[in-house]
Amino acid sequence: MGIMDKHAAIERNATLLLAGSLVVVSIGGIVEIAPLFYLENTIEKVEGMRPYSPLELAGRNIYIREGCYVCHSQMIRPFRDEVERYGHYSLAAESMYDHPFQWGSKRTGPDLARVGDRYSNEWHVQHLIEPRSVVPESIMPSYAFLANYPLETDDISAHLVANQRVGVPYTDEMVENAEADMLAQADPDADWSGVEMRYPKAKLGDFDGDPRALTEMDALVAYLQMLGTLVDFSTYDEAAGQR
Ligand code: HEC
Repeated sequence: MGIMDKHAAIERNATLLLAGSLVVVSIGGIVEIAPLFYLENTIEKVEGMRPYSPLELAGRNIYIREGCYVCHSQMIRPFRDEVERYGHYSLAAESMYDHPFQWGSKRTGPDLARVGDRYSNEWHVQHLIEPRSVVPESIMPSYAFLANYPLETDDISAHLVANQRVGVPYTDEMVENAEADMLAQADPDADWSGVEMRYPKAKLGDFDGDPRALTEMDALVAYLQMLGTLVDFSTYDEAAGQR
């Protein structure tokens, strides 16, 4: 019996064909998937990345709660038109501490991956209170209420612990100081040394225009202002990953 005759036996028997296909497909699967368990990491490390500061993390939680991702993506694709409009294309490492990530593909509004530092805090506050007051043709909803809601501070260390459990490298010191760091980052009169040491490049000071109150607006603007600002692309070498 030639080899083609043997193959005919498989073709005539549906169960045998199914079993054979499973064996072949799983070989392909194992070859692709098994190495992932042995690699130290699948994301190239990039200098400058750090976990979110407690205030930024609170802002990110508000961003997710309010469904900003329904209209905004956070992933600049490596295409000329995107890079010219938004800046350097997004690196995998830039969302390595995002749980869940905010890449998205729906862009009713612009991509926000590098919106940090593009506008002033005042612009963001005004835009969130009444988008049409700064961009007349805007269809973005108003989020004015955020400025009236005091930011919850007592549960923030639990949020850090939750992120710690899924692999974000928050240290125990960061967890212990979470609430204090959160209050200090948005307080113009605070001692910022702890926040600066634990969260380099964190934006400091009042964000919502009212230094007396810590509001959800403070947290959201602190988050928006750091987006895409951690990696220094003037020293980033595409070929080598990092100089
Ligand atoms: C219904 C869709 C929609 C939702 C929801 C939405 N936005 Fe927007 N957003 C837009 C549109 C459209 C624009 C462009 C016009 C403008 O600047 O207002 C925009 C613009 C922006 C900009 C300016 C970006 C730039 O580069 O000029 C920021 C920042 C922003 N949105 C933040 C947010 C945040 C934060 C939330 C959640 C609290 C949010 N948006 C929710 C539609 C939306």
